[in-house]
Amino acid sequence: MSVLGGKNILLGVCGSIAAFKAVALASQLNQAGAAVTTILTKDAARFVTPLSFTSVTQRPAYIDLYTPDPGRILHIALAEEADLLAVVPATAHTLGRMAQGLADDLLTCTVLSTQAPVLVAPAMDGGMFTNPATQQNLATLRERGVHVVEPLAGRLASGLVAQGRLPEVDALIAEMRAVLGSGGPLAGKTVVVTAGGTQEPLDPVRYIGNRSSGKMGFALAEAARDYGARVILITGATTAPPPHGMETVSATTAAAMQAAVNEHTAQADALIMAAAVADYRPQTAQGQKTKRTGDSLALTLVENEDILAQVPHTLVKVGFAAETEHMIEHAESKLTRKSADLIVANDVSRADSGFGTDTNQVVILSRDRPPESLPVLAKTEVAETILQRVAALLRHGAGRSC
Ligand code: PMT
Repeated sequence: MSVLGGKNILLGVCGSIAAFKAVALASQLNQAGAAVTTILTKDAARFVTPLSFTSVTQRPAYIDLYTPDPGRILHIALAEEADLLAVVPATAHTLGRMAQGLADDLLTCTVLSTQAPVLVAPAMDGGMFTNPATQQNLATLRERGVHVVEPLAGRLASGLVAQGRLPEVDALIAEMRAVLGSGGPLAGKTVVVTAGGTQEPLDPVRYIGNRSSGKMGFALAEAARDYGARVILITGATTAPPPHGMETVSATTAAAMQAAVNEHTAQADALIMAAAVADYRPQTAQGQKTKRTGDSLALTLVENEDILAQVPHTLVKVGFAAETEHMIEHAESKLTRKSADLIVANDVSRADSGFGTDTNQVVILSRDRPPESLPVLAKTEVAETILQRVAALLRHGAGRSC
């Protein structure tokens, strides 16, 4: 189940034109299994209505501190029930009230009362955001452990192009998932994940590549983030939308990916290589576009180094095996040859598995257990199972002690 499943999220909405995005946010959180209760400031209710939120969440949306709530004090009860309090969008005024510890409406009373983690996503005109008063208020909130989602630079409602835009819903949800997962089984661990395919240049316009979309690697990176890990995502060429809430390094050739993996695994606890790395590259990449000659063309390919195999076994190592035949046999040999703790074998000739699909059917091979065959699952579910296995390996002393 996703880190959002069954969580009580208190969504504070302030008076900003970006408040309309909070409705889409509430809807997507609800669809992901979270119970979303909304508190609007009275100015938020000039932009969007409580009805918008109750319609998409099937839960109450409050404005008034004095809303009758028999048997309990509303702001205390909301504060106690929350797993996360997210103020989205957060205006300069409400950030100021929060920094000052003011309690003059339902939202600020609840912020003061809650023990839950608090996240704010500021959205405002550029001058208001860069104003030293706002920056000081944000610094105060950060010092108190509030998670601040940086606004984006772009065109603002006033027509100004500056920093102040509320990030898109996917990015906001990623930040919320990271906060909710921060105490998870991989808290304090660093996990390096590779995703996507490498492209080995033939000339300035052509390359040898493969069909990896990045979906499997991205799902693994998100699952590691949701389990509380610091994630370094090394990505080759991809077509899937990239995940948020992690450091991302671009590496489109096998050599660049090897350099990035070596650099980032030096201090990591686990490496998961879902990238489809070219085993061979053209011996020479032409400086100019290759022209037709009317004759056949022979290419000489040279072997790339095996990235996973050459990483020292001082951390948990997980590889994939993309096979079209003799899957278990090849995967078993990769487990030994690459000194991996786990090899996740997928039959990439199946229509529901492997490259580009949203689902995967995998067999997990390890050193000390019989192969575990999983049914066809969403790549997000496969990723969660693999991260559970990684967390167990780390718990039992694998990795730095190998
Ligand atoms: O990105 P998607 O569209 O979601 O597709 C997912 C996937 C099919 C790419 C993924 O599930 C997968 O199988 N990834 C591994 C692809 C691959 O290169 O498999 P392989 O059997 O050739 O390599 C075995 C392992 O060694 C892999 O972990 C690979 O990353 C690694 N390797 C391979 C070659 C090389 N030179 N260095 C490596 O480290």
